Amino acid sequence: MYNWLNALPKAELHLHLEGSLEPELLFALAERNRIALPWDDVENLRKAYAFNNLQEFLDLYYQGADVLRTEQDFYDLTWAYLQKCKAQNVIHVEPFFDPQTHTDRGIPFAVVLNGITQALQDGQRQLGISHGLILSFLRHLSEEAAFDTLEQAMPFRDSFIAVGLDSSELGHPPSKFERVFAKARSEGLLAVAHAGEEGPPEYIWQALDLLKVSRIDHGVRAAEDPRLMQRLIDEQIPLTVCPLSNTKLCVFDDMRQHNILQMLEQGVKVTVNSDDPAYFGGYVTENFMALYDSLGMTREQAQHLAQNSLDARLA
Ligand code: ADE
Ligand code: ZN
Repeated sequence: MYNWLNALPKAELHLHLEGSLEPELLFALAERNRIALPWDDVENLRKAYAFNNLQEFLDLYYQGADVLRTEQDFYDLTWAYLQKCKAQNVIHVEPFFDPQTHTDRGIPFAVVLNGITQALQDGQRQLGISHGLILSFLRHLSEEAAFDTLEQAMPFRDSFIAVGLDSSELGHPPSKFERVFAKARSEGLLAVAHAGEEGPPEYIWQALDLLKVSRIDHGVRAAEDPRLMQRLIDEQIPLTVCPLSNTKLCVFDDMRQHNILQMLEQGVKVTVNSDDPAYFGGYVTENFMALYDSLGMTREQAQHLAQNSLDARLA
């Protein structure tokens, strides 16, 4: 079954480039940049990948991102991810990057962006993988900081297709960024947002009505609100669901409790994605495989999920 799932043509629509930083590359970049790490070795670092919630993961994820310093580092990170895509027949990617994670450490915006876009362009030419890049704002930071980031991004406007919203969800509702998203949309950018991962269905309503998003990232808590479910179905709003992430971050206690196939059968346009594959134990095919192993996903359902990912592309 693994090989069959791997061979399905797929798009990945929910992937944080910083979350694809494998421990081996993290150690290699630390050595290259002469950065001391608090872990003895790769194995030791992997042992730290046990999380009770989103925040525990984010603390480690931001710490890991500190080894990314040069344009070459961002290139190597993105290129390694694209190689994985090639091996899993992911033919189109719409990755996120978090510029504030880097600019707040003094790394120039252009250094981050140039490394990423160079690799994406090489991926298109050499691997045949098409792409659209999404600039994501960190929601635990202020509206002002997001405006400042958007301003820094505008000279590179053509490098992006959309803006996104990630990081600590609880206590940071989409409404906090209504004006920033309005500005981004006025520049012709599309919008997506993480909502309903740990946060309530109300945050999904806000993402739709205030941020005017084209897709919801995660969105699994929509199942608690029948009126919202009906809207997602009626308007065919895609959800970029990340099964391994949801179980690793305890959104669901167990993969057998995951609601993605129920939503699929109810007519919601759900897709399968890896979120932060280096931290959660697998790329897209491993996420499909988990649904087969734990939920008895059929081949027909897998084909439907893969087709949804291709249909839900923004680029
Ligand atoms: N940043 C990286 N992964 C994330 C996730 N799953 N939720 C929110 N912010 C993130
Ligand atoms: Zn995410």
